[in-house]
Amino acid sequence: MKQPIKIAVLISGSGSNLQAIIDHQKQHTETYQISLVISNKAHVYGLTRAKDASIPTELIDHTLFATRESFDQALQKKLDNAQVDLIVLAGFMRILTPQFTQHFLGKMINIHPSLLPKYTGLNTHQRALNAGDTEHGLSIHFVTPELDSGPIILQAKIPITSQDTVETLKEKVHQKEHLAYPQVIEWFSEGKLALKDNQAWFEQTVLTKPQQLNALNA
Ligand code: GAR
Repeated sequence: MKQPIKIAVLISGSGSNLQAIIDHQKQHTETYQISLVISNKAHVYGLTRAKDASIPTELIDHTLFATRESFDQALQKKLDNAQVDLIVLAGFMRILTPQFTQHFLGKMINIHPSLLPKYTGLNTHQRALNAGDTEHGLSIHFVTPELDSGPIILQAKIPITSQDTVETLKEKVHQKEHLAYPQVIEWFSEGKLALKDNQAWFEQTVLTKPQQLNALNA
């Protein structure tokens, strides 16, 4: 039987995506194993979720490091020691240095609450509302040195209605994220995903358009 891949999940907050990844793993134990959860912030609920699931946790408090480089070096050391196959950024709110992203190129994915390339960075729900957009969503992409700009693997869209607020959009995007992220991790564990020549590949074919969650199972 195929061995599950080892993943590390990096968080900075509530960890609802982490919870979805934990819950999916319980039903699909052959796909991946969560070796480690790392937070750059103390006392976040995501750490409690990991402990409740008996997953080893590490706190690497970024405020204790003088430079971005020294924080990233400490993080890299932990991840190298853990020998994981995939690093999953799940609400990890840190800009990473090019050295760090280069070191884990092709082995690190991020989830972002917008239809990239729209709205990199923060406050994506507010910005979609301010712009009068009629749709919003999420993107899962390989991490490359440029913030939120790596090749996109999957997107999921939601319509924006006149009733929507930042809170309702956040909730709707979260619901889709919880389906989408475990799916992408599973693809990676099955060897279906790769980053080559700064392009995302799915089953040996370049993804000229991101996969759509709705087309799959939601
Ligand atoms: C998620 O919506 C994720 O897309 C976003 O943070 C939230 C974390 O929620 N990530 C970013 O904004 C990264 N740029 P969670 O802690 O409940 O999983």
